Amino acid sequence: MSENVKFEKREELKQKPDPSNLGFGQHFTDYMLSYDYDEDKGGWHDLKITPYAPIELDPAAQGLHYGQAVFEGLKAYKHNGEVDLFRPDQNFKRINQSLARLEMPQIDEELLLEGLKELVNVERDWVPEGEGQSLYIRPFVFATEAGLGVHPASHYKLLIILSPSGSYYGGDALKPTRIYVEDKYVRAVRGGVGFAKVAGNYAASLLAQSNANKEGYDQVLWLDGVEQKYIEEVGSMNIFFVENGTLVTPELNGSILPGITRKTVIELAKELGYKVEERRVSVDELFEAYDKGELDEVFGTGTAAVISPVGVLKYEDREIVINNNETGKITQHLYDQYTGIQSGKLEDKHGWRVVVPKK
Ligand code: COI
Repeated sequence: MSENVKFEKREELKQKPDPSNLGFGQHFTDYMLSYDYDEDKGGWHDLKITPYAPIELDPAAQGLHYGQAVFEGLKAYKHNGEVDLFRPDQNFKRINQSLARLEMPQIDEELLLEGLKELVNVERDWVPEGEGQSLYIRPFVFATEAGLGVHPASHYKLLIILSPSGSYYGGDALKPTRIYVEDKYVRAVRGGVGFAKVAGNYAASLLAQSNANKEGYDQVLWLDGVEQKYIEEVGSMNIFFVENGTLVTPELNGSILPGITRKTVIELAKELGYKVEERRVSVDELFEAYDKGELDEVFGTGTAAVISPVGVLKYEDREIVINNNETGKITQHLYDQYTGIQSGKLEDKHGWRVVVPKK
């Protein structure tokens, strides 16, 4: 164990879940990483691996009342006994951007990565190896200061918990999803917190998502918060359109999450010779492209969702079926390349896989 990380051993280990029925984010491992911030103790202190267990929280904890809470999601994969993290530096960089937006204290990205490697090493037996499976890693930070005044807290907790998981939508990862283009509610506005991975963004999405679910759709596609004309992102993923062979995705405008899978897919697609455009895309453009027979494929990208084809889009009184409700060729190509690199089946030219040293 690194000298920067303390370790509290638990008495009894848990029983591991049935690998054939993992679901997403339902099972948690034996240990978690914990780190505390107290202004009066000089900032962040006590980076430690402790038994996974309920935590004690003051009912007046500010994070519960005023939403100072941010999170991340990344994954670990196992192949031939080796355990790798996928682009973890990007997640720690982004958590600092989210923390800054909510006026929460910055973390030391390298130290946290060191702590995460120690945690995942302790839990390496929990990393599932089945097709499409991984150890989902959830770092999160929230305000623990007790008090009801609205001001930045002076006490915080960071935790990293681990969940052996299968596909996010359940079943086949490449089963096309049905998406409802939301024309009533909005997710974020420019100048707000849309670009940050803050808990409240997800709370704000739930009513629209439930309404869409009731109508038989899996997820909501958000439009911009001002004109409700331009496409932003889906509930748990960024979105790509293949128009006449060109990949088009909404540009990062401040209200869209800068997805790490989005970034990776753009980099990979360009290397594979596809044309990629990051720009404003209106919902009208999309339906016009469809009417002209030029909307070849639609897919979403996200850490949890991976690369997920969209089979149906519903907007106002129209419902369109994309590529016969089948996974398109480009979607499949990118999926195979992306998951091939993650799972160690393909060469990693970029150094995206970060080995968790076995100790
Ligand atoms: C992820 O893709 O890791 C996410 O955080 C999306 C979702 C599960 C909230």
